[in-house]
Amino acid sequence: MVFARKHLLKIESYEAGRPISEIKCQLRLKEVIKLASNENPLGPSPKAIEAVRKALSSINRYPDSSGYYLRKKIAKVLSLEPSNIILGNGSDELIDIIIRAFVEDDENIITADLAFLEYKIVSFINNRNLITAPLKYFKFDLAAIKKKINPKTKLIFIANPNNPTGTYVTKYELEEFFRGLPENILVVLDEAYDAFIDVEDFPNSLNYIKKKNVLVLKTLSKSFGLAGLRIGYCLGLPELISSLEKVRQPFNVNSLAQEAAIAALDDKKFLRKTRSLILEGKKYLCQNLWELGIPYVSSVANFILIDVGRDGVSFFKEMLKFGVIVRNMRQYGLKNFIRVTIGTKKENIRFIKVLKKILKGNTPRL
Ligand SMILES: Cc1ncc(COP(=O)(O)O)c(C=O)c1O
Repeated sequence: MVFARKHLLKIESYEAGRPISEIKCQLRLKEVIKLASNENPLGPSPKAIEAVRKALSSINRYPDSSGYYLRKKIAKVLSLEPSNIILGNGSDELIDIIIRAFVEDDENIITADLAFLEYKIVSFINNRNLITAPLKYFKFDLAAIKKKINPKTKLIFIANPNNPTGTYVTKYELEEFFRGLPENILVVLDEAYDAFIDVEDFPNSLNYIKKKNVLVLKTLSKSFGLAGLRIGYCLGLPELISSLEKVRQPFNVNSLAQEAAIAALDDKKFLRKTRSLILEGKKYLCQNLWELGIPYVSSVANFILIDVGRDGVSFFKEMLKFGVIVRNMRQYGLKNFIRVTIGTKKENIRFIKVLKKILKGNTPRL
């Protein structure tokens, strides 16, 4: 007897990066590093830690349901109005809220076939039809996405930069995409990794939220190191945001996350430090991959997709034996790839050392 609703039977749950404590215990290893979930290797913003400490004594109270002060803060930072902003329990939750608020039973959602997995999983959980378009040279191909549009299309997800590829669509490509796009189709620009961008032709998404049919997703998980608190937000015109508000649970963002985010948004020093660490680390990793002759996808995010030239799952397991957790790409259907998050200098050096050992066939038996 199966109790689950029928459409759930075809869904495979999201496979998250393996936690350090689990690998330490399972493989009896003392030192384990995690380069698997695109987290901030510097830890959380110090200003956020301080704010959480102060807020701890008030956790007997429900959080501020409207996120009044945090929305006000985000509005100030981005020169918007609080009515342009809705908060989420991570931007993950907002992906779900967006689908539930806007996509009818018989309508469809379009994204790339190799994009952030949550678009697919959450579409399926909500029993919505998902159409995918192939990437071109590991990049979102907006022309291919446009070709997939049919009269039942309601929503398009564009991860910019994309996860797991780290590639981005340029402002010119996005401009072209919006030209002639039917206005009854909502476009979500998911910018989880925008803090790491170092290219001139990246689009300024704030220019687009004046449109009737654009939403922008942001998160404090990566740039400010708040992944464990779960805090993201969505920007758009007030009429779109108010529809999302109807679907949101009243206390979706906890009070510690709200206080941490308010403080973190002022932590420019931490953001600068994070950015330069990631850019330097990326240079080091790419240089070494290049010298080793290992193909990788050029990334503007804080991770790199690497073609290890053999089964990525077993490569991932070999890395685990050395206490290095990366991400295997099985769920993404990328057989010979792993994805590595850029870590601290020490972590990056260790990753390259382990990579070299595995390539030489020196993996320990555990
Ligand atoms: C493209 C993209 N969007 C959204 C998210 C979700 O971020 P969070 O739920 O931590 O805010 C991620 C997380 O890895 C991501 O890669």
